[in-house]
Amino acid sequence: MDFNDILQHRRTIRRFAQKPVADNDLRSLIEAARLASSAANRQPLRYIVVRTPELVAQLLPLTAWAARVAPRRTPCLGESAPTAFLAVTAPSDAHPEWTQADAGAAIQSIEFAAVNCGLGCCWIGALQRDKIAEVLQLPPGRKLLYLIAVGYPAETPCHEDAPSPDQIGYYLDDHDRLHVPKLTVDQLATWK
Ligand SMILES: Cc1cc2nc3c(=O)[nH]c(=O)nc-3n(C[C@H](O)[C@H](O)[C@H](O)COP(=O)(O)O)c2cc1C
Repeated sequence: MDFNDILQHRRTIRRFAQKPVADNDLRSLIEAARLASSAANRQPLRYIVVRTPELVAQLLPLTAWAARVAPRRTPCLGESAPTAFLAVTAPSDAHPEWTQADAGAAIQSIEFAAVNCGLGCCWIGALQRDKIAEVLQLPPGRKLLYLIAVGYPAETPCHEDAPSPDQIGYYLDDHDRLHVPKLTVDQLATWK
């Protein structure tokens, strides 16, 4: 897949086929993350790759999925749930802004690498972090930043130009396809 196709086709996926992801493919996502930019090249992020059905089932209820398109894009176990999660963790005392920026760079790389393998992701920030930390037995001194749900897409969301800056709400159309309005270059950029 060429890079522009990956850029164009990467969309958040919230409905997944019930087919496991090979460990090698999950490994290639971490490979993409490890090459991402990192403030001062500190590389504070660590990943927990969760792909056993039992652990995925424990994590799923501790995540929240886009309320705007609920319940149709709220994954159900055994039907539309992701088959893996990547937990992105950092030291509790790491510089919070730079660590968040590192996470953004790494997660975006993971999302692009996923598209390249035919996979889809949902970057999840709405989490019951304390409970997830318990399930994953995070050691003291580490905190959970995000989960990334991973699996084979069972939906084909698309983007479209936002008609105006206040019309950016994503929506499901009459054919149950998710549309994601994106601001245009002219809406986003000023030139000097
Ligand atoms: C920091 C961050 C947190 C997010 N948290 C959630 C979340 O908790 N649940 C969810 O369903 N989507 C979540 N998303 C996905 C966004 O809703 C999604 O990126 C947005 O709707 C744009 O769609 P796109 O990724 O297809 O461009 C998150 C995205 C980011 C960047």
